[in-house]
Amino acid sequence: MKEIATLKNIESPANMLEQFQAEVNEGLSDTNKSLPSKYFYNKKGDDLFVKIMHLPEYYVTRSEHEIFKEKSYSIIKSLNLDPDQYFELIELGAGDGTKTKELLSQLVAGNYSFDYLPIDISQNALDQLELDLSVTMPQVSVKTKQGDYFEVLESLKENQHPKIILFLGSNIGNMSDDIASNFINNLSQTLAFGDKLFLGVDLIKPASVVLPAYNDNQGVTAAFNLNLLERINTELEADFAIYDFKHQPEYDEKEGIATSFLVSKKNQEVFIKKLNRTFNFSKGEKILTEISRKYNDEILKKIITNTAFVIKDKITDSKKYFANYILERV
Ligand code: AVI
Repeated sequence: MKEIATLKNIESPANMLEQFQAEVNEGLSDTNKSLPSKYFYNKKGDDLFVKIMHLPEYYVTRSEHEIFKEKSYSIIKSLNLDPDQYFELIELGAGDGTKTKELLSQLVAGNYSFDYLPIDISQNALDQLELDLSVTMPQVSVKTKQGDYFEVLESLKENQHPKIILFLGSNIGNMSDDIASNFINNLSQTLAFGDKLFLGVDLIKPASVVLPAYNDNQGVTAAFNLNLLERINTELEADFAIYDFKHQPEYDEKEGIATSFLVSKKNQEVFIKKLNRTFNFSKGEKILTEISRKYNDEILKKIITNTAFVIKDKITDSKKYFANYILERV
């Protein structure tokens, strides 16, 4: 479960700190150093990510929003919804609801019978979303679910209502292909025949578009990446000199994989008190902090090969930067 929890931590605070310690130790002990990207998301990281989503270079959020704004009707058609058949619209991650609201209002306009169930580990994020929706869309029945995605989905399995799961924002892209495959397979196990997964993925495109999205002019993405070291300093009592590391994005256009690194600007030692260990970094040495996989049909087909899903449809934005795939549980 640890690996498929992926984006945010799902443990209690004490376990979380222990897990953070263990994963930092493991990642920095490797010959090719790495740190898990899920640790970006503390309070500061969440705020920086909100800024990233509004950056001119970061096309990802805007492109998916365009799909929801311009093509909500096509989404509903592709999902093959029947206005007379009650269903559960389940979203993994609460977010601020901007994209989902476009779909919700179209569903309300079409008199569909449904509940909207956002699942998130953060009760605070759910409360904010619920409050916002109660004001902006009072017609929608919102049933927030706090907890781990899979535990909540398992508990919903019992009721046998038709289900649509939304997993948006290219969050799947931050998983390796093996983990993504595992994750989707686990989702399929919580669903029944005919249920759907509505999956948002960033599409493979030239480096000239992808790289600036991960290396913006204002340095917000750099701050987001370097915040990982600040977090280790604060929570694990380390002495990383933040300015002796730099943010470095890379993109393999053929593979469709963007990676983010923190690169040591000089030979240096860092002491992490909570681990009682010193780590050496040589000049130019890289720490892998994130992968952001981009997709196409072939890659998605490969990833879902051993799962109980088939691709039913695909909706893209006008520039074909982003796609929302409709996967059906068979
Ligand atoms: C959350 N995730 C989909 C973002 C991405 O594009 O991989 C995280 C991010 N990292 C740097 N910028 C945005």
